[in-house]
Amino acid sequence: MTFTETILKWYEAYGRDLPWRRTRDPYAVWLSEIILQQTRIAQGTAYWERFMERFPDVQSLAAASEDEVLRLWEGLGYYSRARNLHAAARQIVALGTFPDTLEGIRALKGIGDYTAAAIGSIAFGLRAAVVDGNVYRVLSRHFGIDTPIGTTAAAKQFGALAQSLLPPDRAGDFNQGMMDFGALQCTPRSPACLTCPLSASCRALESGRVESLPVKKAGPAVTERYFTYIYLRCGGETAIRKRPSGDIWQGLWEPLLLEHDGTAPEWPAWTSEGTLTPLRLGVKHVLTHRILHADFYLFVTGKRPPLPEGFRWIPESGLDNYAKPRLFELLLDELF
Ligand code: ADE
Repeated sequence: MTFTETILKWYEAYGRDLPWRRTRDPYAVWLSEIILQQTRIAQGTAYWERFMERFPDVQSLAAASEDEVLRLWEGLGYYSRARNLHAAARQIVALGTFPDTLEGIRALKGIGDYTAAAIGSIAFGLRAAVVDGNVYRVLSRHFGIDTPIGTTAAAKQFGALAQSLLPPDRAGDFNQGMMDFGALQCTPRSPACLTCPLSASCRALESGRVESLPVKKAGPAVTERYFTYIYLRCGGETAIRKRPSGDIWQGLWEPLLLEHDGTAPEWPAWTSEGTLTPLRLGVKHVLTHRILHADFYLFVTGKRPPLPEGFRWIPESGLDNYAKPRLFELLLDELF
């Protein structure tokens, strides 16, 4: 049996019994694919049923107000999906019929290549391969492909491979079979290789790479940084400096920063001649690819301490005039 035949046979036996699979109504299929774009099947199914009940066809959806569609969508998140859904319903009604070509489907609001292939194959039997995370995993393991997922090279390679495996008919069953096979059999962790009908020809299994495939493109490493801030107060004034280029928060203003390795900062000598009052310790601030750990201290003094270049003394009442990182705003909330 070929790979394709095995997937189709497996799908007949073990494919999930999902309500939108009992119809080829393109409206029902389209609705399911939009709902499933960022939503798990268990949650999505309940929403699909509610939508089908309230809006059984594209005309009723198009006739609804956007508000009502959004209210029914509540809880699913990514509300632009609901707005696009509503707009696309009006596009379809204006067309007079649901488009039945890939280009026609792709032209609807909220539909990219992936969703167009899913709808086209499932509702119209168009020979278009769906390549989602499940498909990447199944193919990379079975064919032993270690091209990192998330690269354009992988999109091309896996897209072409999936397309070449499509049966001449039943493209929709094959696509959904691949999705289910990835979700149920060839799972990310602890795949069921012992009961897998494709184990005899699986390159990953043969070479002990089941756990290490698919290869993911390395994301930027998450770096952790440790900031200790000292807010200086001297006769109603405070000292701030503008952050330089080449680092986060370029151009924003902040108080004296002692960056360290997570153990302890190097306190300037003058800090021993007064009192450092901790304001907030151990604040965790999560940015994209970055975790900042910050401590804040207040240092009240009658004499301006020597500061590195670039610091400017300003009246504390004038702080509002300076753009600041959110972390500094947090410190000011603590102070005032
Ligand atoms: N995820 C998105 N579309 C799906 C479908 N038609 N079947 C299973 N999982 C899906």
